Amino acid sequence: MLYIGVDLGTSAVKLLLMEGNGTIKNIVSKEYPLYFPNPGWSEQKAEDWWTNVIAGIKELTADCDKSQVAGISFGGQMHGLVILDKDDNVIRPAILWNDGRTQKETDYLNNVIGKDKLVEYTANIAFAGFTAPKILWVKANEPENFAKIAKIMLPKDYLAYMLSGTFCTDVSDASGMLLLDVKNRKWSKEMLEICGITEAQLPKLFESYETVGTLKPEIAAELGLSTDVKIVAGAGDNAAAAVGTGTVGDGKCNISLGTSGTVFISSKSFAENENPAIHLFDHADGSYHLMGCMLSAASCNKWWMDEILQTKAYADEQKGITDEMLGRNHVYYLPYLMGERSPHNNPDARAAFIGMSMDSTRQDMVLAILEGVAFGLRDSVEVARKLGIKLDRTKICGGGAKSPLWKKIIANVMNMKVDVIESEEGPGYGGAMLAAVACGEYASVEEAAAKLVKVVDTVEPDPEIAARYEAMYQKFVKMYPALKDVYDDIKA
Ligand code: XUL
Repeated sequence: MLYIGVDLGTSAVKLLLMEGNGTIKNIVSKEYPLYFPNPGWSEQKAEDWWTNVIAGIKELTADCDKSQVAGISFGGQMHGLVILDKDDNVIRPAILWNDGRTQKETDYLNNVIGKDKLVEYTANIAFAGFTAPKILWVKANEPENFAKIAKIMLPKDYLAYMLSGTFCTDVSDASGMLLLDVKNRKWSKEMLEICGITEAQLPKLFESYETVGTLKPEIAAELGLSTDVKIVAGAGDNAAAAVGTGTVGDGKCNISLGTSGTVFISSKSFAENENPAIHLFDHADGSYHLMGCMLSAASCNKWWMDEILQTKAYADEQKGITDEMLGRNHVYYLPYLMGERSPHNNPDARAAFIGMSMDSTRQDMVLAILEGVAFGLRDSVEVARKLGIKLDRTKICGGGAKSPLWKKIIANVMNMKVDVIESEEGPGYGGAMLAAVACGEYASVEEAAAKLVKVVDTVEPDPEIAARYEAMYQKFVKMYPALKDVYDDIKA
C-alpha cells in the first residue's frame, strides 16, 4: 500500500509518497507566501495551504496506482491560530508560530495568572508564539473576530478537516496551544476559562497515529483516490520529524534545522518540567518529549543568502571553509531575526553580528551564521543537560541538514555524535509513517521507526575543534544578556 505524508511548513508544503516498506516513491514541494504585516508579525492564509495541498497530492500521485493509496497524515507547523466561523469560513489569516505580537498577553499569562499555575495546568509556561496568547490577542484587538469564532484549530488540522470533515487535532500539536493538560492528554478547563473559550470550540483530541475519518466523497473524486483513504491525525512537525528520524523511546535526540531550529528529546514517562525555558509536550508515539525551539535557524542562512548576498549558490558560499577555520572565527552572529523562544522567551530580541574588523571576509560572515545558529541550539541542549539528561548523540533533519559543513559544526558545538539518516525529510516521512501505523502496516510507531529508519553516516566531533567551539560558546552566552536592554530600546 502507499501512504502520503504532508509536511505543512512555513515556506512550503512538502508531500511525500511512501511505500509500506518505507521506500520513498515521490516528493513534491509547493511554496506559498508568508506575510509580515508588521515587524515581528507573521501570517499565512489557510486557503493557500489547502489549494497547494490539493495540487500537491494530484502531482504526487500522478504516476502511481491510485487505488494503492491507503492513508494520509501530517506533520504541521505548530502553534498557528486558525479560526473558522459557524459556516466554516476562515475568519482571518493564521497567526503563525514565529509571530511575536503577543508580548502583552504572554506577560499577562506568565505574570498575572503566574508561571506556577500555567505549569500546573499545562506543564508549560507561555511563549509569544503559543496559541493561547494569540486567542487573548484576538479577543483584545479584534473583538468582532473573536465573537465569530466557532472552531479553533492548528494549521495541519485545517487540512484534516477539509479532507475528512472531522474537526480534530492530535495531542503533540495540541500541547503547543497552552490549552492542553499535557500530562493527562485532555483540554485544561482552567486554561479554556482563562482564554474565554469553550471545549465546543476546540477540536476532538486524538493520538497522532489514530484515524480521524476517511476522504470526503467530493475530495476523493477530485483527487482520483478512494473514499476509503484514511485521514490520520498526524503530529506537530517536530514530533512528526522525530518519528521520521526514529527519535522515539527514552532519551533519544533529534535536531531539526528548518525555518525554526529545534532540539527534541523523547521521553517514555512524564517528569515535571523543572526548567520551562524548554517545552514539555506529548509525543506522537503515545509518550512525551522535551523540546527547545529557536525561531530562526535555516531561515537565518536563507535570509543571508537570498536577501543579503543575493545568491542561490548556498553550497558554493560554504565550499572554501576548512576544518582549520572552525572555532577560530572572530565574527559572531546572534540568530534572533524573529525574536527568540528557547531559552530567552523574548519576541523583541533581534539578530546581530559582533566582532567584525577590516580583515573580516564574506566567508567569515557565512560561517558566523552557521555557528550562531548552532550556538543558539546549544542553549537548549545546555538546559536539557542541566536537567540531568545525558546527550551524547543526536539525529538531524531539515533543509539545513543537507550541508555537510553545518552538520560538522553542530557535532562540534554540541560535542555530540550526529547520526545522519537516509532521508532528511523528517516531518513528511514521519507523517507517512503515522499513516502506515494507522492502516495496520506496523503495530506501533516504535515498530515502524525500528524497521524503517536507517542511519547511513555518523559525524563525530573532533576534540580540538570541539574545544575551540567550547571557548567560543562561552563568549556567545554573554552576548544576549549584554544586548537585552538594547533590544528593549530599539523595539518597534
Ligand atoms: C516548535 C515551533 C516550530 C514550528 C515550525 O515549537 O514553533 O518548530 O513548529 O514549523
